[in-house]
Amino acid sequence: NNKIYSIAIDGPAGAGKSTIAKLVSKKLNIEYIDTGAMYRALTLKVLRNNLNPLNKNDVIQISKNTEIDFIKNHIYLDGEQVDNEIRDNIINNNVSYIAIIEEIRFNMVKLQQKMAKSKSVVMDGRDITTVVLPNADFKFFITASVEERGRRRYKEIKEKGKTDITLVQIIDEIKKRDDIDSNREISPLKIADDAFVLDTTNMTVDECVNSIISIVKGGI
Ligand code: CDP
Ligand code: CDP
Repeated sequence: NNKIYSIAIDGPAGAGKSTIAKLVSKKLNIEYIDTGAMYRALTLKVLRNNLNPLNKNDVIQISKNTEIDFIKNHIYLDGEQVDNEIRDNIINNNVSYIAIIEEIRFNMVKLQQKMAKSKSVVMDGRDITTVVLPNADFKFFITASVEERGRRRYKEIKEKGKTDITLVQIIDEIKKRDDIDSNREISPLKIADDAFVLDTTNMTVDECVNSIISIVKGGI
């Protein structure tokens, strides 16, 4: 069966979206598109150019001379692979200001829709089920308690060897980002009416992946 289909996933930070989406894409042999990485890459460019993320006009201006691409699951900013750079905490703490700008979202959404047009994809983000792929074949809202999401992020940071940040700080940063993402005017994070909600607080990664795969396999 060669039918083109799409799996759209939204949810808050640290819920497990990208980990799960990546594994689902491998199992189904379809492409994974991490839309958060695209907003992160633009944020990296803004900060590298010493621009203020809150200065909308500057951000829009620089975005016009910016090229963001995925090649073999790696993210490229103006031809440079920036997979690691975009995960820095300074990006976490600024990306939501870039992502509230209407003009920026408009262009990102266009790019994302183009990416999903000619092939089967699993795409994750904040507005995928609602705005980017409202007609997706499968829609999931992946979530978990904010404490659990904080613990997961904290564990990742500790494993990288960073020690100057506390769990409480991480949880506060996540809450702040969730708040901006959920309350912005343009394409806020919300549960689509027809999305399947997966609360992963007490689930392993494997359980999450299997749950999604069984729903998708039942439907294609
Ligand atoms: O991985 P994590 O959940 O921490 O974040 P992400 O998915 O990489 O997204 C980073 C940020 O980009 C989010 O907090 C949103 O502000 C923004 N974003 C968005 O507005 N719309 C999307 N489709 C994806 C991300
Ligand atoms: O993309 P998103 O921000 O939603 O989350 P992620 O970066 O995929 O996941 C954050 C961390 O939670 C990763 O280290 C995952 O391995 C972990 N995780 C987990 O421990 N249990 C789950 N059921 C899902 C994710």
